[in-house]
Amino acid sequence: MKEVYVVGITGGSGSILGIRLLESLRNYEVHLAVSESAFRVLELETDYTMEYIKSLAPYIYDDRDIAARISSGSFRFNTMVIVPCSISTLGKISSGISDTLITRAAAVALKERRRLILVPREMPLSTIVLENMVKLSRDGVIVAPAVPGYYNRPKTSEEMVDFVVSRILDLMGIENSLMKRWKSG
Ligand SMILES: Cc1cc2nc3c(=O)[nH]c(=O)nc-3n(C[C@H](O)[C@H](O)[C@H](O)COP(=O)(O)O)c2cc1C
Repeated sequence: MKEVYVVGITGGSGSILGIRLLESLRNYEVHLAVSESAFRVLELETDYTMEYIKSLAPYIYDDRDIAARISSGSFRFNTMVIVPCSISTLGKISSGISDTLITRAAAVALKERRRLILVPREMPLSTIVLENMVKLSRDGVIVAPAVPGYYNRPKTSEEMVDFVVSRILDLMGIENSLMKRWKSG
């Protein structure tokens, strides 16, 4: 099967992580959905234009379009990543609520037993959120919080972003050299 990825960007802080991931996936078939809140957060915390974001994915869908291609189990893809994944979207997925295209595509990934990676950005975490994460993890979901390592002594926020994106690409099984690996010489 051709490598096909579904990327969701929701309204957690860290929109830059989603953008950097899309930049790293330029050579792949990427299907992108961006939530309404994500558009708001993107506008508040980055200078990226919608045109630029749209240029990063060959297929982009409205998060309200629950009839889009990626909403069906018959649409085949390798991995779905939601980055950043808001606590709200994470909670909905863990409860089986699929009222947006992103939550529907995630429910499809779950039922079809496909790889689903959620990258939440929140701190601290309530017991409810932790329980939601455990529930998802038990169902095979990879919960990969947007937490950079400090052992490479990052000097810029870009390096910290690249660390997190590199680890996401690793989880997707995609070769990358976005960060210097520990003791790699
Ligand atoms: C500037 C800003 C920053 C936010 N940061 C976070 C965050 O880090 N994590 C989070 O879970 N929600 C965050 N939120 C709240 C979500 O955007 C909000 O819960 C929204 O309803 C999520 O909707 P969505 O999951 O459909 O994108 C933030 C909101 C704003 C305006």
